Amino acid sequence: MIPRFSLHHGDCTAILATLPSGSVDLVVTDPPYVENFRDRQGRRIRTVGGMDWIEPAYAELFRVLKPDSFCLSFYGWPFIDRFMAAWKAAGFRPVGHLFWEKPYTSSVGYVSARHEEAFLLAKGDPARPAKPLPDVLPWEYSGNPLHPTQKAVSVIQPLVETFSQRGDLVLDPFMGSGTTGLACARLDRRFVGIELDETYHRAAERRIEDAYRRADLIHLRVAVAS
Ligand SMILES: C[S@@+](CC[C@H](N)C(=O)[O-])C[C@H]1O[C@@H](n2cnc3c(N)ncnc32)[C@H](O)[C@@H]1O
Repeated sequence: MIPRFSLHHGDCTAILATLPSGSVDLVVTDPPYVENFRDRQGRRIRTVGGMDWIEPAYAELFRVLKPDSFCLSFYGWPFIDRFMAAWKAAGFRPVGHLFWEKPYTSSVGYVSARHEEAFLLAKGDPARPAKPLPDVLPWEYSGNPLHPTQKAVSVIQPLVETFSQRGDLVLDPFMGSGTTGLACARLDRRFVGIELDETYHRAAERRIEDAYRRADLIHLRVAVAS
């Protein structure tokens, strides 16, 4: 039986190189936005080689995706030129830009930062979704209990729901605390997750195992009741 989820601990570029070409239906990912991020509690986000992971990681993501599929990637605007060059060099075509408005300020510099953004990238020419997602979406704060930049499941779930089908294989190579995996469990998708940091990997493992167990119980109850 094909496992419904598999979780890997390590550098995604090296682990992706072990996955077969054309095997993934959808990538949803929230990679590091900057080098050496540290939150107010002192929790860090490590990267491999500063920001030099960008080009090889997206080249591998393009390779493992099926023809005519999507990669939904958050990104850090200070590195937009680098992300865009890497996406295009890998073969991706930007086909949408999503924007989330925060009801609070997350940092203050020359402006008070109140949004998050992601690009919808196409490999080939994927079919349009049955219900296209608005490109301005509401933001929910997760409170970051397990990870310094933890996304709320309510932010990730509509992306998985819109751009994949039940039973599809969804990949998050920068899974952090495993939020994309939770969305996949709830929506009956299969999931592959990769995380470099051991603490966040362990948190993701606990959350995702629990989410698939709960989803199984719900399906069992529905089957018994009908
Ligand atoms: C922005 S965070 C993802 C947070 C996640 N969306 C969540 O809700 O918890 C990016 C993650 O990528 C991980 N990471 C950084 N470089 C990596 C690499 N080369 N391979 C795999 N994971 C990496 C970091 O440890 C961090 O947890």
